[in-house]
Amino acid sequence: MNLPESDSEDELPPGWEERVTVDGSVFYANHLSKATQWTHPRTGKKKRVSGDLPFGWERCIDKNSGKVIYVDHENRRTTYTDPRLAFAVEEKEHPNDYRQRFDASSTALQVLHGRDLNGKVALITGANTGIGFETARSLAKHGCTVIFGCRNLASAAEAINRIKEEKQVAGENCVSFHLDLASLESVTHFLNQVKAFYKQIDILILNAGVFGLPYSKTVDGFEKTFQVNHLAHFYLTLMLRSLLVMGSRVVVVSSESHRFANLTPDNLSMQTLSPDSSSKYWDMMAYNNSKLCNVLFARQLAKNLQSFGISVFSLHPGNMVSSNLARNWWLYRMFFALVRPFTKSLQQAASTTVYCATALELMGVTGVYFNNCFRCEESEMAKNDCFAEALWKMSEEMLGNVLGNNALTVKNLEE
Ligand SMILES: NC(=O)c1ccc[n+]([C@@H]2O[C@H](COP(=O)([O-])OP(=O)(O)OC[C@H]3O[C@@H](n4cnc5c(N)ncnc54)[C@H](OP(=O)(O)O)[C@@H]3O)[C@@H](O)[C@H]2O)c1
Repeated sequence: MNLPESDSEDELPPGWEERVTVDGSVFYANHLSKATQWTHPRTGKKKRVSGDLPFGWERCIDKNSGKVIYVDHENRRTTYTDPRLAFAVEEKEHPNDYRQRFDASSTALQVLHGRDLNGKVALITGANTGIGFETARSLAKHGCTVIFGCRNLASAAEAINRIKEEKQVAGENCVSFHLDLASLESVTHFLNQVKAFYKQIDILILNAGVFGLPYSKTVDGFEKTFQVNHLAHFYLTLMLRSLLVMGSRVVVVSSESHRFANLTPDNLSMQTLSPDSSSKYWDMMAYNNSKLCNVLFARQLAKNLQSFGISVFSLHPGNMVSSNLARNWWLYRMFFALVRPFTKSLQQAASTTVYCATALELMGVTGVYFNNCFRCEESEMAKNDCFAEALWKMSEEMLGNVLGNNALTVKNLEE
């Protein structure tokens, strides 16, 4: 990857000016020779600006001069310079060619700096607390409508109030619906509610998760970590397919723990995914396996949806981030508390999710795993296409066993 040798590499030589065409292409004007060109006079690179103006800005025609002007309503100023130039990104030579703009220390709000998400609808599971809440808060602050899918509506209402109190811009852009991933009936009810109010989902974030649970079964008869972390999200996504449109993104919050899973194509069975009794259960392995399922699901989903222009990403938010995840055992709580000074804040932990959900340079990219806002190699096991396909089929079968095959319109994905 070529990184600029110095911060000033992008600086224009004297006499040059950067401008933008109506369709967002950046061009360079040389005032001395009166010539223009598409490539940067120093780096030789081409750039583009995003389709949307920063939050609070408007493009108008100046009545006197007839020229395009940009009005910053918040700071009450007007300029001839397109404000998106500050966030121009280099044109890619191929779809996976992009520079690292953010890293482990970046926050979700830094990733969104200058972005206007008005008109976009995001659905986030487990948005009432932890990383999900910081993700929802950051997107909402940039104008995005956020649907909170939460099992505790009082906690969701409190979370939404916190966002509303803090947000300077008026607007009721956060709503919550009850969603308990440990009950497929609840997921169905949630889907019906969402579909009654929304016709399109631009960003679907599968964030909710449990860790360190003692062995327990859901009302549907599946081991709880497996159902909450994978199976119910799988079902939710298939049923939301009709609301995903070209340009929509599905973001699956997984974990680096997927590398330590013991699930393999050879031992893949309903028993391994969801053991019938506690004798073969270890909470840590159940979590690792569910997170491997997340990456494999994202891989297969990306394949199925690629021709529809829908992107799918999976990611690791950060190591032992202080959230409520460790709530289920005092020892895990203690470990998380001990490392807290050295781990990411929740704002930093939400950055990779927000990056995958919104980064303009990811347009046209799909099926990639991210860590620290940058592409990262998933485990060898997670790159096995046959494994991903087999897990998909088994997940369908497991859902079919409970819901009946007719209830599952999973074939929609290929339509
Ligand atoms: N924290 C980390 O270090 C870390 C590291 C790697 C990956 N992750 C992943 O990041 C994601 C978010 O975790 P977090 O750290 O923010 O944990 P968290 O603070 O415990 O948040 C988890 C969220 O999931 C929700 N949830 C749990 N069970 C649910 C169910 N049955 N139905 C619906 N929602 C349910 C929780 O709702 P309630 O508030 O009602 O319980 C909460 O909103 C998880 O997928 C986790 O695996 C976290």
